[in-house]
Amino acid sequence: MLNKYVHVTLRYKTGHLNFVFRKISKYLDKDISSKVIREKFLNYFIEEKGHKFVKSSPVIPFCDPTVPFVNAGMNQFKGIFLGLQTPQYPKVVNSQKCIRIGGKHNDLNNVGRDGYHHTFFEMLGNWSFGNYFKKEACQMAWELLTKVYKLPASRLYVTYFSGNTELNLPPDEETKHIWSTIGVEEERILPFGETDNFWEMGLVGPCGPCTEIHYDHMGTVNRAQLVNRGLHDLTEIWNIVFIEHNRKQDGSVQLLPKKHIDTGLGFERLTCALQGKVSSYDTDNFTYLMKAIQKNCSGISEYSGHFGEQDWNNVDMSYRTLADHVRMITVSLGDGAIPEQNHKLRRILRKCFYLSETVFKKDKGLTKELSNYVVENLGQVYPEIERNVDQIHQIIDYEENVYHNLRKSSEKELQKLIKENAKLTTIDPIDIAPNVLTAYKELHESKCKIIDDKLAYRLYDTHGMDEELILQVSNVLDIEFNPLSFAKGLDDAKLESKKKSAEMKFSINIEPTIPRTDDSSKYFYSKGRRGYSFPPVECKVLNIIQNDLSTSEAGENCVCSLILDKTNMYCAAGGQDSDRGTIIFEHSQFDVKELLNIDGRILHRGVVRSGTVRSGSLGTIKPDEAARIANMCNHTGTHLLNAAVKKIKRASCQKSSKVTDSYLNLDVAIFGAKLDISDVVSIEDTISSLIKKQIEVKVSIVDSQQLYKYDEITLIPGEVYPDNNIRIIEVTDGSAFISREPCCGTHVLNTSDLEDFCVIGMKSLGRSTQSVTAVTGDRAKLARQNAVRLSEEISLLKKSLGDNMDKPELIEVAVGRIKKKLNFDARDNTIIPLVFKDAALADLQVVNGQLKQIGKQNLKNFIEMEMEDALQSNIGTSKSNKKYIVHYLRSSVVLDSVPLQKATKLCPNMPVLIVSYSDNIVKARCCVPKEFQNEYFDAQTWLTETVATVFDSEVRPSKNQAGDAICNMKPKKVHIQEWDTLLKEAMKLAKKYVHDNL
Ligand code: ALA
Repeated sequence: MLNKYVHVTLRYKTGHLNFVFRKISKYLDKDISSKVIREKFLNYFIEEKGHKFVKSSPVIPFCDPTVPFVNAGMNQFKGIFLGLQTPQYPKVVNSQKCIRIGGKHNDLNNVGRDGYHHTFFEMLGNWSFGNYFKKEACQMAWELLTKVYKLPASRLYVTYFSGNTELNLPPDEETKHIWSTIGVEEERILPFGETDNFWEMGLVGPCGPCTEIHYDHMGTVNRAQLVNRGLHDLTEIWNIVFIEHNRKQDGSVQLLPKKHIDTGLGFERLTCALQGKVSSYDTDNFTYLMKAIQKNCSGISEYSGHFGEQDWNNVDMSYRTLADHVRMITVSLGDGAIPEQNHKLRRILRKCFYLSETVFKKDKGLTKELSNYVVENLGQVYPEIERNVDQIHQIIDYEENVYHNLRKSSEKELQKLIKENAKLTTIDPIDIAPNVLTAYKELHESKCKIIDDKLAYRLYDTHGMDEELILQVSNVLDIEFNPLSFAKGLDDAKLESKKKSAEMKFSINIEPTIPRTDDSSKYFYSKGRRGYSFPPVECKVLNIIQNDLSTSEAGENCVCSLILDKTNMYCAAGGQDSDRGTIIFEHSQFDVKELLNIDGRILHRGVVRSGTVRSGSLGTIKPDEAARIANMCNHTGTHLLNAAVKKIKRASCQKSSKVTDSYLNLDVAIFGAKLDISDVVSIEDTISSLIKKQIEVKVSIVDSQQLYKYDEITLIPGEVYPDNNIRIIEVTDGSAFISREPCCGTHVLNTSDLEDFCVIGMKSLGRSTQSVTAVTGDRAKLARQNAVRLSEEISLLKKSLGDNMDKPELIEVAVGRIKKKLNFDARDNTIIPLVFKDAALADLQVVNGQLKQIGKQNLKNFIEMEMEDALQSNIGTSKSNKKYIVHYLRSSVVLDSVPLQKATKLCPNMPVLIVSYSDNIVKARCCVPKEFQNEYFDAQTWLTETVATVFDSEVRPSKNQAGDAICNMKPKKVHIQEWDTLLKEAMKLAKKYVHDNL
C-alpha cells in the first residue's frame, strides 16, 4: 500500500466544510521533529553545499525604516543586494525569525482562521551574493526537498514569472527550462504574473522574479489548476527569488549591479508537510502551546483542530490565535521591541489579554506563562530569547496592567455612549480606551463627513490612533476614510521626517554645488601624558550664510554660519551637544557657538570676533577642548548608566538621552518598575568601580551584517542605523558588566577619565519612564563638595533645634533655606548628589516632626497667622478686576493634619483655593461664593482643571455643599522629591485659570 489515510476536516476556499481523507506518503517519517527538520536544512547547505551559517537578525529592522518588522530572511542582506555592502561570504544560509503584521506582507487577518498563516514564523533560506544563480538554486531546492526530506515529486508544483509589460519584463523562460531539465513534469511547471511571482520586500527595495515550489498535501490527483488559489492543502512552501532589480520610490524598477539568489522556505509549512498534518497548529511547533493553554486554564476543552463552522464556538480559533500571538510577542519582545512604539504589537498583546479573559477565563498572567513555553522551545534556536526573558515578562506584565486599567476606566463611558449609538459595539473590544472614546466624541460633535489625511494625522498624533482604529471609529459614525492613503502618507512622512525637520527648522537653502563637509577628524584625538589632544584642522570657508542667505564676506561682530570643507568639531547628534570653539584665519577670528548639519554640509554658527571672514578664507579650527572632554566623559557616562540600569532592573530600554558639557540625562523605560534610592547607590557603585578599574573604551567600525552578529548589544527601537560605518562603543570589565552600543558620539578612551560619577536628579516621566540626570569629573566632585557644606549646615540646624524650640519661625526659615539649596538646575554650580539630597530631605522631615510637636500646641495660631498674612500680601486680581486667593499653606508641612476649612473660612468674600502638604500628603480645597460663579468658573472646575490634574486626583463637593461652591480634592500621596515641581505647576495653573475665567 502506497499511502496511509488520515481522517481530517478541511475547509475549502468556497467556505464549505468537507470530510476528506488526507494521504500521507509512506516515504515520510512522520515522527521527524521540527528540530531535526531545521537542522537538516542548515546542514545540507553548510556541509554539502559550502554555505556559511549566518544567525538570524533581530525582528526589529534596526537598519531599515521601510518595513515595520523583519519580514523575510533577506532583510539583513538588503545592503549587499543594493551594492552598498561587500558580502563577507558569497553563499550563506540561515533560519530567520520573521514577522508579517503590516506593510506589503501582512498575514495578521488570516491568523487563527486558517492553519498556515502566522504573525511570527521562521524562514529557512539560502543566499548567493553574485555567486550561483537560477540553475543551482533550483537544483539544490529540488534535491533537498525530494532527496533529503523525501517529499514525493508527485506532490510538488513549481511556478515561474510570466512577465509584465508595464515593467518591461519578459516571461522567465529560463527558469521554466531549468525545471524541465531537472525533471519536473511540464504540467507541473506553471506561469504566474507579478502578484505571485515577482517578489518585493516592501514598497521600495530589492526585488525580482521568483519561482515558487508548492506542496500538495492531498496527493491524489493532479491539481495544477488549484495552485495559488489559497487552498489549505495546496500551499506554497519555498520561494526562490532572483534578485535583479531595485524598486524605487517612484514605482519604477532598476537593474542592480549584480544578480543574487534569495530563498525562503516556510519552516512551519514544511514541518506541516513532513509531519503529515492538516495545519501548522498540529505540528510540534505548536502542540506544546496548545497543551499549555489547556493545562493553565481549567475547564476548557482541549484543542480539536476544527476550522470554520466546525469550530462553532470559535474556541479552536482562539487557541490558534493565542498560540500564534504568544510566539510573536515573545520573539519580538526578546529582540527589544517596545509596544509603546508599535501599535500593532500592542494590539496583539491586548488580543491575548482579551482572549485569556473572555475565552480562557484567566484574568491575568496567561500570556506571560505561555511565553515561558515559547522561551523553552525557541530559546534553544535563538538564545537571545532566553537571555531576555526578564524583559519579556516585565513588559507583558506591564502591558497587561495598562490594558486592564484602560478597560476599567473606559467601561462606564462606553456603556453610556453605546446607549446613544449601538454601533459602538462594533469596535474591537481590545481597542476600547479613553483616547478612542474621546476621538469618537470629537468626531461625532464635529459632524464631519470625511476624515482626510490631515484630520487622520491629528487623530494619530493626539490620540495615538493608527489607521485601523480610525477606520473602526469612522465606520461607527459613517464617516468616509481611506486608511491606505493615510498609512502610505504616514510611512512617507516618517521616512522623510528626519531630513525635513532639519530643513524646516532652519529653512536654509544651500547651493547644491557646495560639497559635503568632511568631519571625520572629529574622531581623531589621542591621549598622552598631558591629557587629550585634538589636532587642529586646516579648513577652507566654502560659503557664508547670514540671515538664511548666502554672502561672500562677513565683518566684525557679524552673526552668521560658515560652511567649511573640513572640520574636527562635533555637530549635535546622538543626544550629544555640538562643540564650541574658534576658527583662526590670517586676519580674522570666528567664534563657533553651535553646529548644524544640513544634508552633510556642516554649518558653523557663531560670530566674527575680529576682522573679516571671506568665502575662500583658509583657517585653523580649534574646538573648546575642556567642553569637548566634558562631553566625552558625559557621553561615556550615559552608556555606563544605561548598562547599569539594565543590569539592575534586568529590563529597560533607552528612550532618549542628552549629553552636554555640564551634565548627562538618560530617559529610560523600565516598564512599571521604578528606580529608587538604593538603585541609585548601586548604579553609582557599579560605575565607580568601572572608573577605578581603568577600562579601555573600545571603538570598532562595523556594517549592519556585523552589527547583527553581536550577542549582546543595546539597540534602540525606532532608531535607524546606517548600513555601513556603524561605530560600536564597548566597555566591559570581562565579567558581569557589558556596555555595547552603536553610537556616533565622541567618547573618552578610558573609563578612568570620568574620574567620578554621581546622579543628581531623578524623576518619573509618565507611567513607564524614569529620567536620570548625572554628572561626571569635576562637576561630580563639585556636587560632593556642595553636599559636605550642606551637611554641615543641617548638622548645625539639628544641634540648634533644642535652643530654638520656642522660636519655630526661626527653624522654619532655616529649613526653607536648606530646602531651597536642595532645588537646583543640572547646569547650576549648586548641584548636589541625589543620594545626599534624599538623606537631607529625611533629616528635614525629622526637624519638621519636631516642629509639629510645637505646631500641635499652636495649630490654630499657625494657620491663622499665615492666612492673615496671605490676606495682606497674596491677593490676586483677575482679568475682570476681581480679587481672589490662591495659596499654599506653608505651615501645613509642620502639622500632623490640616483642617483646610479653617483656612478657607478666613477668606469668605472671594474665591479661594488652598493647598496643603503634610506627611507627604497633598490636600486642596476651594470655595467660590455664588456671586463669583459663571459659565466657565466654579469651585468644581477650578480645582479639577488645575490642582487635581497636576496631582492626578479627584474632586468632590464638600459634605452637604454644592460642588460649584465648595470642593475638596481627594488627598494624594506625593513623594517629597517631586513635591516642589508639582506644587509650582499646580499653583501656576490655578492662578492662570482664575485670572482668565473669573
Ligand atoms: N524573500 C523571499 C520571501 O520572503 C524569499 O518569500
